[in-house]
Amino acid sequence: MATRTASITQAHRTGSATRQRTDCRPLRVEASPGVLALLALLLAGCHAEHVQSSLHPAGPAAEHIAWLWWILLAVCTPVFMLVVVLTLLAIWRRPGSSRPSEPLGNRFIVICAIILPAIILFFFLFVSLEAMVTLEEPEEVVTIRVVGHQFWWEVHYPDHGIETANEIHIPVGAAVRLELQAADVLHSFWVPNLAGKRDLLAEHPNTFWIQADRPGTYRGQCAEYCGVQHALMAFYVVALPAEEFRAWLEEKQQPRPEPANEELARGREVFFQRGCNNCHAIQGTSARANVGPDLTHFGSRLSIGAGTLPNNHGNLAGWIVDPQAAKPGNRMPRSYLPADELHLLLDYLMSLQ
Ligand code: CUA
Repeated sequence: MATRTASITQAHRTGSATRQRTDCRPLRVEASPGVLALLALLLAGCHAEHVQSSLHPAGPAAEHIAWLWWILLAVCTPVFMLVVVLTLLAIWRRPGSSRPSEPLGNRFIVICAIILPAIILFFFLFVSLEAMVTLEEPEEVVTIRVVGHQFWWEVHYPDHGIETANEIHIPVGAAVRLELQAADVLHSFWVPNLAGKRDLLAEHPNTFWIQADRPGTYRGQCAEYCGVQHALMAFYVVALPAEEFRAWLEEKQQPRPEPANEELARGREVFFQRGCNNCHAIQGTSARANVGPDLTHFGSRLSIGAGTLPNNHGNLAGWIVDPQAAKPGNRMPRSYLPADELHLLLDYLMSLQ
């Protein structure tokens, strides 16, 4: 008996010891692929430059939109959680267990299904109207005309005689009026850091305005499905301090210089001999087509193919030889150029500032 008691006590002690060890074990979180994917998605929002994000506003319109978003999140999150809790309670309640009395049930429905949603919806209506009034067009200082094509953006400064593509330079701290129109199908202009969206219609121009309060380069994106390369119909808004913007306007208004040397002049010949002028324009030359982007200032642009590739010699060479590899479905055909002609053409295009 004494032996049995001893062994039980021993087992009890061992048990508690084991339990104690188990309790003190450091907490381990199993990293399943699902958790990792979710974490990666969340961390993607922490990108230092906040490229193309409505939640990092850099202008008054975007600030209003971001504020509206936070209000919606703050109100909708508790409502969603309440609905989930009530749904789970309804699912898990045992049949026949305590039912609320009829009067309480009716009052509950009246409050939660009619009064509460009505208050919330009226509140949303009020803040949305307030934001819409604030987003009314202010007094603008510059007007820019933007034409959407499949799948690139034509950009004009009508008061200054400047034409460019896939890049919009604006002055910081000033309202910029945009005249938006589509050349083919419906597109939508969206720079999340600066403002909301506005559609580009083929039938008549739409007006819109943007303003950046901080210098920087903001990525924009077509926000209306417009065909196979809708996702690669991007552009950049470059916001410059007022002085720099004026200098930019002045520089781009200057008559385009002749090629600086013999090699560049031969590159220009290749441009015409190989028929690039059938689709592209270069101011100061006889190339005037606008099937593809205007190339007058091509060398100073940030990207090739409307935000598809960074603009450099290597990417441009690949683009000219086989544009369909980088952006299948765009209108530019392959070119079959001998290597020496390709190099001359590359140098000429990159020299266009
Ligand atoms: Cu243009 Cu989508």
